Amino acid sequence: MAVARVVHTADRTLTGRQLASLLTPPPEGRFGYRELARAVREALLDGRVALRVRLPAERELAAVLQVSRTTVTGAYDLLRESGYAHSRRGAGTWTALPDGQAPTALGSYQDESGATIDLALAAPQAPESELAAALTAAALELPRYAGAQGYHPYGLPALRAAVAERYTARGLPTRPEQILVTSGAQQALSLVLTLLGRAGDRVLAENPSYTNALDAMRGRMLRVTPVPVTESGWDTGLVDAALRQTAPRLAYLIPDFHNPTGHLMPPEQRRELTRAARATGTWLVVDETLTDMALDVPAPAPFATAAGGGDGEQIVTVGSLSKSCWGGLRVGWVRASSRVVTELARVRITADLSGSVLDQLVAVALLDRLGEILPRRVEELRRRRAALSEALARHVPEWRWTLPPGGMCLWIDLGRPIASALASRALRHGVRVEGGARFGVDPGTHEHRLRIPYTLPEDVYESAAERLAAALDGAPGRFADPALPDWVA
Ligand SMILES: Cc1ncc(COP(=O)(O)O)c(C=O)c1O
Repeated sequence: MAVARVVHTADRTLTGRQLASLLTPPPEGRFGYRELARAVREALLDGRVALRVRLPAERELAAVLQVSRTTVTGAYDLLRESGYAHSRRGAGTWTALPDGQAPTALGSYQDESGATIDLALAAPQAPESELAAALTAAALELPRYAGAQGYHPYGLPALRAAVAERYTARGLPTRPEQILVTSGAQQALSLVLTLLGRAGDRVLAENPSYTNALDAMRGRMLRVTPVPVTESGWDTGLVDAALRQTAPRLAYLIPDFHNPTGHLMPPEQRRELTRAARATGTWLVVDETLTDMALDVPAPAPFATAAGGGDGEQIVTVGSLSKSCWGGLRVGWVRASSRVVTELARVRITADLSGSVLDQLVAVALLDRLGEILPRRVEELRRRRAALSEALARHVPEWRWTLPPGGMCLWIDLGRPIASALASRALRHGVRVEGGARFGVDPGTHEHRLRIPYTLPEDVYESAAERLAAALDGAPGRFADPALPDWVA
């Protein structure tokens, strides 16, 4: 893992108004210095406020919050003393984390026995009968291809055409030349980052975000500028400010049932964001892997429709059959201008030359049956979401979550920054689950969140919730936060 080499932004500034909008108001109605310090610390720990962001001048924040300047001075002093802020004369005060506060990564864990309930993967099982039928159809087609060498760096023409046709049917006219078939959305994203990013370039990313995408950025030494996705979704003003302040080369977005929060970006925000990115010359890399997982809302139109979908737009869309059909197929794609697709194919050749012809033929046949597969999948996810939600409500009633309109995960608020410790304890109780820190741009944040997918059959959730409750209760007092000084009690 390249986590140790992450390069962060250090030069963004929050205005008093922006910071105030990100803080949870105190129950008493007005901040004392302890409450203010606690509110900033909590906003930092759950990713609303990024690391290494300059806090507003004391006078400015005092005016916005209608408190005395000494209240803000006292709060900043407390934050500094406890390691949550640093300052230097002339450079102001910026957010930080105390030394040693880092997440526990469970990514390398393998269960050999099968006894562990795996809640770490947000991925569905294959639609069995359709997969079998698609395999038969692919086997019949294969001889037509077997006479040639079988290398198709852009993807099988039939699959490029089928993917393009689906975009067109969803309201975004697309030609096959605009599609590059890849080994899943992950390879699509890696190729895009390789083509469009250079070490040291800035990338704007949502915080939290899809962990493997963040790792791909870190591995390429890209400088990640986080923008928060909170309970209420995206804040266009903050995204706009981040774009203007850092003029990133790329912005990576998951507007459709955002992983891990499940939010769906409203159309007006899509248009505003597209306008703002155009103004700074930023490439929008839009991950629509979860677009078909629309549980309570109509399936969203492709993001690029917000920009007119023209060939000259700096919008690159990444898609996949992993959630709509099956991850084991390893079929995804990039939709971009034909010029960008040509450049991406050059990069792709250096990675793996070409994808498997057989898998792509299966994908063509599955795309043909998507109209039957998706309604069942969506219905199944609704039932599983309800089963997980009900089991959690029974066994861990103190946890909080909002049912997302789509996607595959609940983003649970544990109420305390204990997620990494709980995740490693849960493993001993037979549940693998990812703490929020795995999805944070900055290590050590989102510690009061747990991501729990609802992609397993309904009957596992009772037992999973029971085990999580046991992990939570097992050793009272063991969850004290070592980084919490007395004053935040
Ligand atoms: C937002 C997002 N992007 C990309 C991926 C990777 O998908 P694939 O299996 O197509 O590589 C996932 C899978 O979880 C995802 O949630």
